Amino acid sequence: MIVGVPRESFPGERRVALIPGVVPNLVKAGLEVIVEAGAGSEARYPDADYVNKGAKIVADRAEVFRTADIVVQVLCYGSNDRTGKADVPLYRRGQALIGFLRPLGDVHSVEEIAAAGVTAFSIELMPRITRAQNMDALSSMSTIAGYKAVLLAGDTLPRIFPMLTTAAGTITPSRVLIIGAGVAGLQAIATARRLGAVVSAYDLRPAVKEQVQSLGGRFVELPIEAADAQDAGGYAKAQDEAFYQRQRELLGKVVAESDVVITTAVVPGKKSPVLVTKEMVAAMVPGSVIVDLAAERGGNCELTRTGEKIVEHGVTIFGVINLASTVPYHASQMYSKNLTNFLLHMVKDGKLQLNLEDEITRSTMITQGGEIVNPRVREFYSLAPLAAQSKEANS
Ligand SMILES: NC(=O)c1ccc[n+]([C@@H]2O[C@H](COP(=O)([O-])OP(=O)(O)OC[C@H]3O[C@@H](n4cnc5c(N)ncnc54)[C@H](O)[C@@H]3O)[C@@H](O)[C@H]2O)c1
Repeated sequence: MIVGVPRESFPGERRVALIPGVVPNLVKAGLEVIVEAGAGSEARYPDADYVNKGAKIVADRAEVFRTADIVVQVLCYGSNDRTGKADVPLYRRGQALIGFLRPLGDVHSVEEIAAAGVTAFSIELMPRITRAQNMDALSSMSTIAGYKAVLLAGDTLPRIFPMLTTAAGTITPSRVLIIGAGVAGLQAIATARRLGAVVSAYDLRPAVKEQVQSLGGRFVELPIEAADAQDAGGYAKAQDEAFYQRQRELLGKVVAESDVVITTAVVPGKKSPVLVTKEMVAAMVPGSVIVDLAAERGGNCELTRTGEKIVEHGVTIFGVINLASTVPYHASQMYSKNLTNFLLHMVKDGKLQLNLEDEITRSTMITQGGEIVNPRVREFYSLAPLAAQSKEANS
């Protein structure tokens, strides 16, 4: 079977789905790897390195799609809402497609992918089980984004992060607040601490308190408790507006005292809750910085503009999207390793074996044989369960 790696086409995207280092593992498993010319160059993986590791370089993008049995991308159509549509006519019936597909973003792209007859696997639906940890690309990208968010803030802030005692006087450390202490938030805490900032973090899941503290952060305790904070997968559950309103009131003072606020509070498949209002921004010291990692789904700050950097009340607000792409070498390395583990999980004797008894395959597969087959995706869009699925549910 042939695995094809097209060049990423989303504007500004610099990652590549597979790096040369993983090619020998795939070849050993009986797969051939073809790579569109220049696919890795933005991430500093030249074509020659792919060839040295046993891959073949193909000049024409259409040929990659025509030849490959499995196409692997970072941003497939769906998550690539700008240029991804151009790939749809290139898909081949029966071909497998693996990457970020944002299946809970927009039903039309999922329908088009299904209609093209490809068997698509959405890497963001990877179940959060121990067995799948080394395939969890969402966590990998969040790790990179959490790190980079701190650097972005540090680069913009008119202050330094650490405390310094010098002959020219004492410099007080900067105060960094992280709202949402999941994978990105925890990495942001660790990075800001390494740079010497005083770090606090808040999350509605009380379970993260110890993790925050073990990284040297102060856990912000608010006198408010989410009724049902987290689901079985470890994700936060959506709360009602009254809860978010109370959160905003209680967070106001902590936000006003912070030089940097990094927000990462998201709820899968939902618009991000607004936790930092425009009044809270106005109360911050001019020169402060907000990096809103939830910007892609509306943002945690009321003033955030997705994809833009703005200054309001003297506060710089980054509505960043796709931050992992700005660290393309390591982001690609991690993504590539996750994808390789996923491929090796499904490929047996050089063939893709789709075992739907397996939770990893079943949770990630969203389309097959012309239909949207994923129960979670069908339910999300209120599509009737497929005949086989309703039979299963009744048995
Ligand atoms: N394989 C595994 O077992 C596995 C893999 C990855 C992550 N996880 C765990 O899953 C959890 C979530 O990870 P994630 O980073 O993907 O989450 P995420 O990106 O979905 O959310 C980021 C954080 O925002 C928080 N949040 C949501 N709404 C909030 C609100 N109103 N106020 C404050 N905080 C809010 C969430 O609790 C979460 O910690 C973490 O505990 C992580 O360790 C487990």
